Amino acid sequence: MITSSAPGKIFLFGEHAVVYGKTAIACAIDLRAHVTVEEAPTVQMKGPGGSVDLNPRKHPYIYSVVEKFKGFTDVTGVNIDIHSDIPVGSGLGSSAAVTIATIKALDAYYGTNLTLEDIAHMGHQVESEVQGRASPTDTFVSTFGGMVQIPDRKKLGFYDMLIVIGNTGKFSSTRKIVSNVAALKERHPIVIGQIMDTISAISETGIEFIQEGDFHTVGELMNINQGLLDSIGVGSKELSELVYASRKAGALGSKITGAGGGGCMIALCEHKNLSRVAHAIKRAGGDSFICRTSHVGVRIE
Ligand code: MEV
Repeated sequence: MITSSAPGKIFLFGEHAVVYGKTAIACAIDLRAHVTVEEAPTVQMKGPGGSVDLNPRKHPYIYSVVEKFKGFTDVTGVNIDIHSDIPVGSGLGSSAAVTIATIKALDAYYGTNLTLEDIAHMGHQVESEVQGRASPTDTFVSTFGGMVQIPDRKKLGFYDMLIVIGNTGKFSSTRKIVSNVAALKERHPIVIGQIMDTISAISETGIEFIQEGDFHTVGELMNINQGLLDSIGVGSKELSELVYASRKAGALGSKITGAGGGGCMIALCEHKNLSRVAHAIKRAGGDSFICRTSHVGVRIE
């Protein structure tokens, strides 16, 4: 029996701008997906009612991973069991974490010696096949862990940051939101282009202050980034309520993470305010999780 795990991720700065080649900072968090594999008569998935044969409609990510393994190794029967701390469909990279952890578990099980680059690449291929369009950020961060400057995929030094995640519980389609932003940019190319440039400048300035450990200024920059995300139409009433509740409770800064429209926000906190902020987010109608940034990428447990 082999268990592997891989992390979810947040955007500290720069989502949406990164679609236009601008700078963003993504970071792994200590919420992880765990995948356990063990010998079985067929390739199957463990579910609440027992194990079932792998099904491309019900288990598209795992099915696609197994198909990829069939391309270069002899895939014998295996039972795949998934447990994840990462809320699904909320912009925290839960499908990437499950995909990457499954690749790592099967790599160890079949002894295929994939490198981390191979794992990240295969993970991105799987996400692209299942989702139609997928950013390589989620699979890259989930594989390597730590803080990453994108689009260059430059790993930055690691900085321990305390974060409260607020989940609106509202599903939003990344593809639809990205295409709404593209339409807005087409109607107002100069205005939206300059907003994307400013978001990029926020990411670049943010890196300096993260490296100095000046989290008050990092928080201030997150708040400016949030204002600009609102200006390109990716906010929502629910997200704003969580953002403002967290700031009122003492967060250093707070913003949407990921595509917006629903999904999650993040609040950067000092230790003394963590539980106050988490409670404030709950009172404002969200689900909240306290987490920290993490340097740990995919690994065998
Ligand atoms: C979505 O998690 C982040 C976006 O920047 C899209 C992307 O990077 O592909 C909105």
